[in-house]
Amino acid sequence: MEFSIKSGSPEKQRSACVVVGVFEPRKLSLPGELLDNASRNYLSDIIRRGDMEGKLGSTLLLHNVPGTLCDRVLLIGLGKEKEFREKEFCQSIRVAARTLNETGSFDGTVFLTEIPVKKRSVAWRVRQATIVAQETTYRFDQFKSKKDEVRRPLRKLTFAVERRNELTPAEEALEQGLAIAEGMSMAKNLGNLPGNVCTPTYLAETAQQLAKDHGLECQVLEQSDMAALGMGSLLSVAKGSRQPPKLIVLQYKGGKAGDKPLVLVGKGITFDSGGISLKPGPEMDEMKYDMCGAASVLGTMKAVAQMKLPINLTVVVPTAENMPGGGASKPGDIVTSMSGQTIEILNTDAEGRLILCDALTYVERFEPEAVVDVATLTGACVIALGQVASGLFANKEGLARDLLDAGEEGSDRAWQLPLWDDYQDLLKSNFADMANIGGRYAGPITAACFLSRFTKKYDWAHLDIAGTAWKSGAEKGATGRPVPLLTHFLLQRAGKLN
Ligand code: BES
Ligand code: MN
Ligand code: ZN
Repeated sequence: MEFSIKSGSPEKQRSACVVVGVFEPRKLSLPGELLDNASRNYLSDIIRRGDMEGKLGSTLLLHNVPGTLCDRVLLIGLGKEKEFREKEFCQSIRVAARTLNETGSFDGTVFLTEIPVKKRSVAWRVRQATIVAQETTYRFDQFKSKKDEVRRPLRKLTFAVERRNELTPAEEALEQGLAIAEGMSMAKNLGNLPGNVCTPTYLAETAQQLAKDHGLECQVLEQSDMAALGMGSLLSVAKGSRQPPKLIVLQYKGGKAGDKPLVLVGKGITFDSGGISLKPGPEMDEMKYDMCGAASVLGTMKAVAQMKLPINLTVVVPTAENMPGGGASKPGDIVTSMSGQTIEILNTDAEGRLILCDALTYVERFEPEAVVDVATLTGACVIALGQVASGLFANKEGLARDLLDAGEEGSDRAWQLPLWDDYQDLLKSNFADMANIGGRYAGPITAACFLSRFTKKYDWAHLDIAGTAWKSGAEKGATGRPVPLLTHFLLQRAGKLN
């Protein structure tokens, strides 16, 4: 879809459809009032008759409204004005985009972006609106023989801003929104691909293509390279699979040569059967999503490169398939990680931390400004936080704060959990430096504690996205999270967040 920004009055728009909001109960938003005046109270008459109460999510499509130059006017319910916040704003845009797409307009001019949202700038409203509108057009139907096509799909969306001096920040925000939406779409596609297509090799090829498209440096470490580096922990996870593991490194250099890079590390288990500690059957298909950490850091890289942010960013993806097999790791096996620390594998299903720990040691060589790893790491995180917030851990308070703020800004929230030393005892092993599981208690925390033993040399944060990376049930599908959180974090670091 095509997007643009405009400032002007609603009654003067030559558009297939002009979209304005109505607050509950029956109160036109400011642009709505302008239209109403131009139409000699045509709109307020209709509203008074009770056809549009203003309930959040409701719609009313009108044709040939007098005094206007557009074919249609679409009224969107906004809920109570006092309760109109970020969530309601996004919901109203979502409904507008969907309705426009379904009601035959080729283009629409949306005045909802003029409605104030407490503490949020015009740039925020436009960026968010762009992301939400793009999301409504997302389909994953490449494996369907018959695709359901919209008969007259929406082709162009224009967001209105009130003042001319808002045009420039709004246009910049639009570009950012488009880049973030593309990054999310890439993350969703990779996540939704089945495990027999999206293998470690496929992820490596995707990274190489991304590097080609955007002029990035890409390096793919093979099994033998990793063996030479002593990555015994990462390699142990791939031993039960026919698919060779990879370690993908992508470097974007938009900053000064001397600027230390920010490093993102994404868990890339392309299918997690549990290994010899085999998972139960029901919903096991969803373990194709166990590479969503990798998908999100690749999507974030795409967005950053497209926005040409003035930062240095390095993305590292350890990727493998966790399968049972004759060569697979067994409970009780002991491996030596690249850091030299030994690990007793008490459960082969706690494989994410085993590939991440070696990647986290590997990234020391980049002398990072900070490292953030992203992983669908623990089922217990879904129990703790549900599908609302990602779990956040950090060894540096300022970094945690910045990531939490970025999540708020990007409507992609995280919630911090403790990383206190008191939990470290749970990882004790009788036979190695540590065990790879901590028992029944505090699952997401013991997993983070495990990782923290490999991240002592830099500022580090860990996002457990097990609950947020995809939806289960009837709406099964990847969400593209936490691309919004990560991109807003990087926009902030680049000083480009208005
Ligand atoms: N990929 C899973 C975590 C997961 C499970 C994410 C369900 C989303 C939904 C991870 O590799 C795993 O299996 N973790 C184990 C850890 C346990 C063995 C300590 C888990 O959560 O059960
Ligand atoms: Mn597992
Ligand atoms: Zn896993």
